Amino acid sequence: MKKIFIGTNWKMHKTIKEGQEYCRELNRIARDKDERMQLFIIPPYTSLTTLRDELDSSILLGAQNMHWEDEGPFTGEISPSMLKEIGVDLVELGHSERRQYYNENDIDLNKKVHAALGKEMIPLLCIGEKLEDKEMSISEESLSIQLKICLKNISSSQAKNVLIAYEPVWAIGAGGTEAPADYVHKMHDHIRKVLVELFGDIGQDIKILFGGSVNRGNAIDYLKGSNVNGLFIGRSAWDLEKFEPILNDIEQFLQLN
Ligand code: PGA
Repeated sequence: MKKIFIGTNWKMHKTIKEGQEYCRELNRIARDKDERMQLFIIPPYTSLTTLRDELDSSILLGAQNMHWEDEGPFTGEISPSMLKEIGVDLVELGHSERRQYYNENDIDLNKKVHAALGKEMIPLLCIGEKLEDKEMSISEESLSIQLKICLKNISSSQAKNVLIAYEPVWAIGAGGTEAPADYVHKMHDHIRKVLVELFGDIGQDIKILFGGSVNRGNAIDYLKGSNVNGLFIGRSAWDLEKFEPILNDIEQFLQLN
C-alpha cells in the first residue's frame, strides 16, 4: 500500500491548550480516513509532551528543528535524545524560515539528518529554490546542491526513511505566490532524478512532499504529479474548518486513483 503524507507545521502558533483542542478534533477526523493517508502535525516544542498523549497513534508527531549533538553547551537548543524521550516520530529540518532567519545551512542540516536517523526519527528535509534562483533559471541546480549536501554520506538503507519537502521559498507564507502545478511537477521529477542518482532504486521510494501556499483550490492539482507523494501545509491547515475539506478532497482523490 503506497502512502501519501499530509501534514502541517504550526510554526510559532498555538498554545498547549489550543493544540489539545486541535488534536482532539483531528483525531476524530482521522478516524475514518483512508489508511493510505498518513497524517502528521508539527507543533512548537512546548506542546510536544502534552500532545504526544493527546494525539491518536495513527498520526505522526514532529518537532520543528533540533541540534545534531546529543548534549552540550548550546543554549536554547534541543537535542535528538530529548525529542526521542518525548516520543517524537519526525523532525522537520531546514525550513526556509530557519535558513533565512537563523542561518541554517546545508552542511549543518546534513549533521541533523544523520542525527535524526541515528535516533530512528524520520527527518523531513525541506529544500527549495529562492526567487533569485528561479529568475536565473537555476532552480534545478539549487535543488540538486541542497539535496547532495544535506544527504551526504547517507546510505541507501537509511535514505528510505527520509522524507523530502519541496518548498519553493517564493511560494511560502502569506506573501508567497502560488506555484503553478506543472512547475511543481517538473521540480518533483527533478528531485526524483537526483534521489535515484544518489540512492539507486531506493531513490524511487523516497517520499517527496510539496509545500508552499497549498490550499483547497490547488491541493489536488499538485497531488496529480506522479512524483508528488504528499502535501506539507501551513496556513490552510491550522484551522480544521479549512483543513478538513482539503482532507476530504484528498480522500476522494485517493479513492478515484
Ligand atoms: P504555507 O506554509 O502553506 O502557509 O505557505 C508552508 C510552509 O511554510 O511549510
